[in-house]
Amino acid sequence: MNTNAKSSRISGFHKDDIATRLARVAQFANLDDETTRHLSNMGNLDPHLADHLIENVIATLNVPIGVATNMKVDGTDVLVPMATEESSVVAAVCNAARQCYDQGGFTTSMSGSLMIAQIQLVGVPDAMHSRMRILEHKAGIKALCDECDPLLVKLGGGLQDVEVRIVNSAGGPMVVTHLIVDTRDAMGANAVNSMAEKLAPHIETWTGGRVYLRILSNLADRRLARARATWTCEAIGGPAVRDGIISAYQFAAADPYRAATHNKGIMNGVSAVVLATGNDTRAVEAGAHAYAARKGWYSSLTDWEVTAEGHLAGTLEMPMAVGLVGGATKLHPTARACLGILGVATADRLARLIAAVGLAQNFSALKALATTGIQKGHMSLHAQNIAMMAGAVGEEIDRVAQELVRLGTVRVDVAEQELAKLRGG
Ligand code: MEV
Repeated sequence: MNTNAKSSRISGFHKDDIATRLARVAQFANLDDETTRHLSNMGNLDPHLADHLIENVIATLNVPIGVATNMKVDGTDVLVPMATEESSVVAAVCNAARQCYDQGGFTTSMSGSLMIAQIQLVGVPDAMHSRMRILEHKAGIKALCDECDPLLVKLGGGLQDVEVRIVNSAGGPMVVTHLIVDTRDAMGANAVNSMAEKLAPHIETWTGGRVYLRILSNLADRRLARARATWTCEAIGGPAVRDGIISAYQFAAADPYRAATHNKGIMNGVSAVVLATGNDTRAVEAGAHAYAARKGWYSSLTDWEVTAEGHLAGTLEMPMAVGLVGGATKLHPTARACLGILGVATADRLARLIAAVGLAQNFSALKALATTGIQKGHMSLHAQNIAMMAGAVGEEIDRVAQELVRLGTVRVDVAEQELAKLRGG
């Protein structure tokens, strides 16, 4: 046994204060003083709040928030804060929105604000009978579920429907109850999970089976956000550009390898707003990709067509489980500020704005890919990042970056040479 090996079994770590935890991590990882000092700067997030949002906090990570301009959504102009570490993402939305602004911008809608909770029942030989037994209790199920969250019911939400599916699994048939719950302005995970947990013992009693999982589904296909917009041929640079975008879309619609990247581009926009507003990026991402595979193969989340007038028409439809109440949305002051910039009063409006951003993002990516390629737009910000990685500071960053772009070689070794030259080396 190696007695010198470091141990990750740090007793009482969760009870330590932030400074003590950081010191213990610094010792474990041999962090130098400068790195430890850097981590101890928690920026504009109150350490006390950070310590209550998650467990074992030692630091925070600052991600830039950029604002997308030119967005008009359902007739109203809006500035959209986007939290992302990736260059070109914010610019892509600004450009796409500018090019459809005169056509009225984006038109959006929502299928509803229904979330689904699943209750997994096993060990029933008569799955079909069990399904019926559960469905016969619909009124009782509604009463039990609505008792969990009287405020939600007062706000017009609560249990809307009960569906029971038979899922044929490797372990035999499972009887899966879906609670369909209107969660209004909440993302709804807590509400629907509480309902599922409360109902589970009753399902066992009614059927004689055994319940295991009681949890929401992230495939929020009763909470679809929809956005559409039209770009004229003139605004985007002519019919060849339009046809290139259509062909790029057709590629994504037909090929999962391309669809993954195509949808990743959409999520560049979507996740940036979801994160800026303190919502759950993983929930929205899981829902998006599951929805993209709903036909049995993984495909594009957007559709692109040519209108009768020869214009380019884009649409996006995807699950959008975001809320305005609860969790970081309510507690994180930066998230609250971002919601203030957006001026949204409902989760419905937030979800629709996010869909518009996703569509804008996809337009810009496809346009760049079908014309000049993606690197040209990326180059100048990317070159600045590379210049900083080479050690450039202050004004040196722009000067080295410009030189890298002029040379057409955006590499750290070249940036180091250019920096040395600039410093008179
Ligand atoms: C890069 O983050 C996103 C793109 O790859 C999206 C796409 O290919 O459609 C440019």
